[in-house]
Amino acid sequence: MKAVQISEFGDRSVLELNDNVPVLMPTSKQVLIKVKSAAVNPVDWKIREGYLQSMLKHPLPLTLGWDVSGEVTDVGDEVTHLKIGDAVYSRPDIAKNGSYAEYITVDADEVAIKPKSFSWQEAAGVPLAALTAWQSLYEFAKLESGERVLIHAGSGAVGQFAIQLAKLRGAYVYTTTSSNNTNLVLSLGADEAIDYRNEDFSDLKDLDVVFDTIGGETQTNSWKTLKKGGRLVSITETPDEATAAEHDATGFFCFVQPNREQLEKLAEFADAGQLKVSIDSEFGLDQVAKAHERSETGRAQGKIVINVS
Ligand SMILES: NC(=O)c1ccc[n+]([C@@H]2O[C@H](COP(=O)([O-])OP(=O)(O)OC[C@H]3O[C@@H](n4cnc5c(N)ncnc54)[C@H](OP(=O)(O)O)[C@@H]3O)[C@@H](O)[C@H]2O)c1
Repeated sequence: MKAVQISEFGDRSVLELNDNVPVLMPTSKQVLIKVKSAAVNPVDWKIREGYLQSMLKHPLPLTLGWDVSGEVTDVGDEVTHLKIGDAVYSRPDIAKNGSYAEYITVDADEVAIKPKSFSWQEAAGVPLAALTAWQSLYEFAKLESGERVLIHAGSGAVGQFAIQLAKLRGAYVYTTTSSNNTNLVLSLGADEAIDYRNEDFSDLKDLDVVFDTIGGETQTNSWKTLKKGGRLVSITETPDEATAAEHDATGFFCFVQPNREQLEKLAEFADAGQLKVSIDSEFGLDQVAKAHERSETGRAQGKIVINVS
């Protein structure tokens, strides 16, 4: 099969479109998926650069991409919830080869039926970013109805899902965004948009939860917005325990995990018209370098999709 791989870590020039990459046959608990679309996440180019080598220890060559939609073409003997021909989506294990490829072999436990109302492109844009928002807000922060939450970068892929999931939970949502994206975040349900270039979000007070998708100064300045007992969840930088304690708050770091049940719930929300996904841009398998370039700008307004077949 064709797959976009790296044989060394580095800049976009290390991306190779290879033919004759072996297709791995599924084991008894796996399925083989013919990839329709993959999606790009910032972690793809961070892994490509080698920033996560100590944590993930990927053998090379490595196929990048950890979001997929596609059709099941082979099923292991012990898999009961999927069959050949099913239209599925997944955020596969990031320690293994990814989805910038014509086929991907995935543990069936990481695979769910895709939202029926979503195109292949839209479905591929959901798993990694939406699971991140779900696990950060619902599992770590344990966000509750009526709580006030600040979501940083509401126009980003994770931020867009976070706004929608926080509203579905019944929270009041503040989100930081540039003025370019104010209408976008309000259309997703945010109650108040804060233009981070011209306004100081740290004037907010007594929040229950902050969802930090930026890190650095943004995280540092977020602590003072929390009430006593507030929770800060970051997906970019582990919160400092001493700083959390100084603010009588709790800090968490979330690294997203595959989760089939959560994907099933997300598909229900999508098919009920309660979850939208915006596509920032689309590329072919031969244009992954351009897709990474777009992600690396930090300006994407939703998902960057790779159309495979
Ligand atoms: N730990 C995990 O499991 C996990 C999972 C997913 C993602 N992540 C990380 O989380 C981060 C966000 O991921 P993503 O996929 O959402 O990224 P993304 O879609 O590339 O985010 C781009 C968006 O960020 C906005 N933005 C940039 N700087 C901002 C700032 N200072 N304040 C507010 N908004 C800002 C931009 O809007 P403007 O153009 O309007 O500024 C743009 O719309 C990345 O670093 C990624 O690696 C971690």
